[in-house]
Amino acid sequence: MSNHAATAVRHRHVLDSTMAYRETDNAGAPVALFLHGNPTSSYIWRNIIPLVAPVAHCIAPDLIGFGQSGKPDIAYRFFDQARYLDALIDELGITSAYLVAQDWGTALAFHLAARRPDLVRGLAFMEFIRPMPSWQDFHQVDAARETFRKFRTPDVGESMVLDANAFVEKVLPGSILRTLSEEEIAAYRAPFPTPASRRPVLALPRDLPVEGEPADVWEALQSAHAALAGTTYPKLLFTGEPGALVSPEFGARFAASLQHCAHVRLGPGRHYLQEDHAEPIGRSVAGWIAGIEAVRPIARAA
Ligand code: BEZ
Repeated sequence: MSNHAATAVRHRHVLDSTMAYRETDNAGAPVALFLHGNPTSSYIWRNIIPLVAPVAHCIAPDLIGFGQSGKPDIAYRFFDQARYLDALIDELGITSAYLVAQDWGTALAFHLAARRPDLVRGLAFMEFIRPMPSWQDFHQVDAARETFRKFRTPDVGESMVLDANAFVEKVLPGSILRTLSEEEIAAYRAPFPTPASRRPVLALPRDLPVEGEPADVWEALQSAHAALAGTTYPKLLFTGEPGALVSPEFGARFAASLQHCAHVRLGPGRHYLQEDHAEPIGRSVAGWIAGIEAVRPIARAA
């Protein structure tokens, strides 16, 4: 898939910085807002957006500190990410959207949906973040749990993530089944050339809500998940086998616990499912949006 011709990379002034976003032009179509996680960027959606573009106005931001967005001098906590994303959404005048999210993008999507339920037309998500009562609930693999505990340990995390760039060099390729090309790994490395530039990457594992900590993120995501359970907008959950944060079995139970949530099993995959399954994800999201839009006026009139 190399036809990215219709996808432009644009920039907006947001708060005290700038944010970049990929955009396709499809005037009048509903917005599909693609939210990436750590340590990626809108680049991770590059092979999915062209498949969704025929049915949606696709907008894929680079979170603040990631991709081609600015790197203001902030803590890069989850709430900073939410603040900048809210401001970009306002700046772009987005009032209604399908949310398509992975990893920390899902935490942002759940938090946004809980605060602005009227904005959400539907939610497609994968490898999602939830409050995890114990470290056993985080990840399928013991070694990955140990790695993330080290990321949260003062000095050890700095040495691994800031100095050795372990999230980009080890976690990212280790959580994708295929081997990324040199061009692809270069695109993922580009935003993080120096230890200081990697601060956003270190901040997010330290904000993962595990065993009640950190309390503010734990509480925000507890309440966002409680709100999600009460929502009736359409949902679409993708899982990989074995997955990283979400196994197919856990995904099936989670989808069944929600209202109007379909579950698509993609087959072999770890965390960055977009890199191993772009085509089925893109086609499924496009078909899902087209199907919802086909009946929306009838649903409104009823
Ligand atoms: C995370 O950022 O939460 C994550 C990244 C890679 C694998 C699993 C989790």
